Amino acid sequence: MRKKIVAGNWKMNTTLAEGIALAKEVSSFVTEANLNSDKGVVIAPPFIHLTEILKNVNTDKICVAAQNCAADENGAFTGEVSASMLQNIGVKAVILGHSERRMYYNETSLTLLKKVQLVLKYQMKPIFCIGELLSEREKNIHFDVIKQQLHETVFTLTADDYSKIIIAYEPVWAIGTGVTASPEQAQEMHAYIRSLIAEKFGATAADNTTLLYGGSCKASNAKELFDNKDVDGGLIGGASLKMSEFSAIISAM
Ligand code: PGA
Repeated sequence: MRKKIVAGNWKMNTTLAEGIALAKEVSSFVTEANLNSDKGVVIAPPFIHLTEILKNVNTDKICVAAQNCAADENGAFTGEVSASMLQNIGVKAVILGHSERRMYYNETSLTLLKKVQLVLKYQMKPIFCIGELLSEREKNIHFDVIKQQLHETVFTLTADDYSKIIIAYEPVWAIGTGVTASPEQAQEMHAYIRSLIAEKFGATAADNTTLLYGGSCKASNAKELFDNKDVDGGLIGGASLKMSEFSAIISAM
């Protein structure tokens, strides 16, 4: 049975004090909500705050994730943070393939696959993002784009490795724009992604994959998105920085 998840991607926001305060609020909320074991909450603060935040949350109840990691194991890579460093401080998951990383830092499928493999090697969970541009949707090639993104990356893994992945569908035109995919658009793409997984790894693997939606998901639209049978929660950017919004999104799961 797949898990439902709400994950907050804080991106390059918060001071240390703000991050700790927000993480504590999320932690208390989730602890009190006493969610069923088939529901999970993730927060992904900036790298530099991870150690302190890990000390301030109930790690039995929430998962602390990183927003990225290096594509190499260790060595002369100035400014990079390795998967093993993240594992060493207690990080349990890593967001990879976010469209902002693909666009602004030229991350290719090849780079992303290396990162996925390292995250798995260090026993953390990749939250792997895929999504099409507005121009690709307008040209009606969005299904092909998603298929290619999967085939070049996580579909090259062994079935065992694949089973540890969470996928987030994030149409690029919906990220940070205030334009959300309609529940029908989200469900249509999620069902398609699940059918591709079934083709590649079989029906059970498809059924067990947690598929998150991301892109301007907020308190006011979370429920209508999450109510779709193939939408198993969300990857939340802007709205994860405000506790009133984020808690309502968690409650909508
Ligand atoms: P948004 O970002 O919720 O601010 O649109 C989502 C994401 O980038 O994961």
